[in-house]
Amino acid sequence: MNVRPDFSKNANQAETAPAFLSVWDMHSYYGESYIVQGISFNVHEGEILALLGRNGAGKTTTLRSIARLDDPQVNHGEIWLDHQPLHTMKSHQAAIAGLGLVPEDRRIIPGLTVEENLQLAQIAPPIGWSLERLYDLFPRLGERRKQEGTTLSGGEQQMLAIARALARDIKVLLLDEPYEGLAPVIVDEIEKTLRHIKEQGMTTIIVEQNAVRALQLADRAVILDTGSIVFDGSAAEVLENESLRAEYLAI
Ligand SMILES: Nc1ncnc2c1ncn2[C@@H]1O[C@H](COP(=O)(O)OP(=O)(O)O)[C@@H](O)[C@H]1O
Ligand SMILES: [Mg+2]
Repeated sequence: MNVRPDFSKNANQAETAPAFLSVWDMHSYYGESYIVQGISFNVHEGEILALLGRNGAGKTTTLRSIARLDDPQVNHGEIWLDHQPLHTMKSHQAAIAGLGLVPEDRRIIPGLTVEENLQLAQIAPPIGWSLERLYDLFPRLGERRKQEGTTLSGGEQQMLAIARALARDIKVLLLDEPYEGLAPVIVDEIEKTLRHIKEQGMTTIIVEQNAVRALQLADRAVILDTGSIVFDGSAAEVLENESLRAEYLAI
C-alpha cells in the first residue's frame, strides 16, 4: 500500500484538509535547460486550482511533469495522487492511476467520429463516464456524435478533448489553456461545464492565459514565475491584489 504524504506543512500556505494531489520539490529539465525549479503545491479533492503565470513561466512543463510524459525529464521530487506515487510511474501508468491531461493542442484523432474518439478512450478499463453521461454534459457532442472529430469547431473540439479525458476513470483533470482561441460565448459554455464537472466531485488544475476567467472559476491559485512558485493562496486574493496581478500576470 502506497501512502506517503503529508508534506503539506511544507507547502506555502497553512493547510487543513489533507491533499489529494501533492507535488513536492519537483525539478524538471529539457536536456540542459532547467525549467521547473523545485516547486511544491497541493490540490485538495474536489477543488479547482488555477496554475497561472506569464508565457514561458513553466505551466505546461509542470503539467507534463505531473503526467509523467517523457519530455521534460523530472530528476527530483515526488508527485502523489490519492496515495499513489506518480513519480515512480510512466505516463501510461499515471493515466491508469487516474491522471487525465487535456493538452493544449487537444489531439483529436483524425478519421474518427466524435463517438469513436470517446469509445477509443473507453477501450482500456477502468472506464469512466458513460457516453450517455458525457452527452448529457456536452449536448453539442451528442448532436454531432457521427461527425468526424477534426471537423468540429474549436470550442467543440475542446469539449471533445475534455469528454475524452472523462471517458476514462480519472481522479484529476489537468487542462492546458482550454479557452485558447475561443469566442467568449464558447468560453462561457465550457466554464459552465467545468462547474458541473466540479459539482460531480472532480479535482481540476486549469492553466490559462485568460487569468481572470480562470480565477473566477477556481478556488485556489498558484502563480509560477520562471519555474518557481511566487504565490499560493485563494483565487479571490489574486483577483483583489492588483500589484500581484500586474507583476506576475500582466492583467
Ligand atoms: N520541448 C522543449 N525543449 C526545450 N525547452 C522547452 C521545451 N518546451 C518548453 N521549453 C521552455 O521551457 C520554458 C517553460 O515553457 P512552458 O512550460 O511551455 O511555459 P508556459 O506553459 O508557462 O508558457 C520556456 O522557456 C520554454 O522555452
Ligand atoms: Mg503553456
